[in-house]
Amino acid sequence: MLTKIEELLQEVDQLTAQNAEELEALRIKYLSKKGIINALMADFRNVPAEQKKQVGMKLNELKTRTQERIAALKETFENQDADMSGIDLTRTAYPIGLGTRHPLNIVRNQIIDIFSRLGFTIADGPEVEDDLHVFTKMNFAPDHPARDMQDTFFVETNPDDVTKNIILRTHTSSVQARTMEVTQPPIRVICPGRVYRNEAISYRAHCFFHQVEGLYVDKNVSFTDLKQVLLQFAQEMFGPETKIRLRPSYFPFTEPSAEMDISCHICGGEGCPFCKYTGWVEILGCGMVDPAVLDACGIDSKVYSGYAFGMGVERIANLKYKVKDLRMFSENDTRFLEEFEAAN
Ligand code: PHE
Repeated sequence: MLTKIEELLQEVDQLTAQNAEELEALRIKYLSKKGIINALMADFRNVPAEQKKQVGMKLNELKTRTQERIAALKETFENQDADMSGIDLTRTAYPIGLGTRHPLNIVRNQIIDIFSRLGFTIADGPEVEDDLHVFTKMNFAPDHPARDMQDTFFVETNPDDVTKNIILRTHTSSVQARTMEVTQPPIRVICPGRVYRNEAISYRAHCFFHQVEGLYVDKNVSFTDLKQVLLQFAQEMFGPETKIRLRPSYFPFTEPSAEMDISCHICGGEGCPFCKYTGWVEILGCGMVDPAVLDACGIDSKVYSGYAFGMGVERIANLKYKVKDLRMFSENDTRFLEEFEAAN
């Protein structure tokens, strides 16, 4: 029996298999219940007592060596399989989904597009800003209640000088201030960007949202210019039948100031639940740049005048796509985002 085992030991070391079936055949031949090794195990009780120890050890060695050999062969197969078929188990599964453009980006790009055709260029600035650019240069007096309308998040306060407070910007008017500081008129810019306000989060308000503000400064700019540009914008954005109306309003940085409504594009101005039966929906704030703002930013208000306007991208997107809950825009739910696949 010992010689038989020795022979088998040699044999198993030489075992090869071309494929998984051959390997399985080997396993059955040697290791299954009816296999060679089990048969030897069964014969073991006939081994004379004085040889039992030696034969037992050899037999165990044979069993382990066979198991190891078969496992090793199996491993080479598995690796080979992977190499040969070019399967990379680490890569993302097919089909790789094509992303969709975010609805806010779609709308922002449409707004930018319209104003670009009217000759406006894009200006950019920081989201973490100082009080000087967000409020002070925009003609908000230090204790003026208008600051409460735009309560924000404070990054760093300066007890000696409020203008040095570091805050999250509440509107992109700060970019207008920065543009005027470094550019002499004519200035014609739009400022798209994210802004922040300290609001209780609900379906209609969030602590951050997106704006596109616009600024035009030159000689002899009048309210008529503003109105015409806004009419052009409204009709390009919401359709050629769209009417606009301007209601007097207040902003520290414009005088006179107005809110602009468009005729409700759902009922065409007849009155419906969406426009609360008024026929109008509000879309933006605007006005003639207050001379104090021009002077604070280094532009001579005796020579130049200008207009400004600002709109919320979420608001426009809501009007276009009737999203009931503003929070949907920032939840990253692909079921919602995929709805805009065709809206590009
Ligand atoms: N900055 C204003 C706001 O965020 C919008 C606005 C801009 C109004 C320019 C008038 C002129 O509410």
